Amino acid sequence: MKSAVNLTLILVALAVTIPAFADRPNPAWEKGRIQAGQALYRSNCVVCHDVDQPKSQKFGPSFHQLFRKEKMPMSAMKPNRDYIKLRTRFGGSFMPAFQKTLTPAQIDLIVDYLQTQ
Ligand code: HEC
Repeated sequence: MKSAVNLTLILVALAVTIPAFADRPNPAWEKGRIQAGQALYRSNCVVCHDVDQPKSQKFGPSFHQLFRKEKMPMSAMKPNRDYIKLRTRFGGSFMPAFQKTLTPAQIDLIVDYLQTQ
């Protein structure tokens, strides 16, 4: 009988703590990913793509709050991870390709970072 009570207590404790963890916006490991993505963005992209202001004088379009926008700055589609990853790998008419300098995992980190901006 006593163990049944203990089990109930454990289940109640779990039911209370699991949602509390799920609600935390940035667990430590996720923060690490975002910081790594930011560092990669700063060394590869920010020279042409601002993120901290909507209008920029740089060569490429600004990615300020990109994922909150209806569409990409230069293409008529909703901001989405796959398109950004492809464009980063293969470049554009004026943008360099990054498939030789960045791994797919690094490009993933950059897109994670952009999603938080
Ligand atoms: C030398 C400048 C330059 C660098 C560095 C650069 N870009 Fe670009 N990027 C551009 C230009 C210019 C365009 C738009 C014209 C084109 O497609 O070439 C563009 C377009 C894009 C687009 C498409 C935007 C749209 O609305 O369709 C994405 C996504 C993008 N860049 C991501 C990145 C990422 C991520 C990085 C860093 C890994 C990066 N770019 C680095 C110049 C650059």
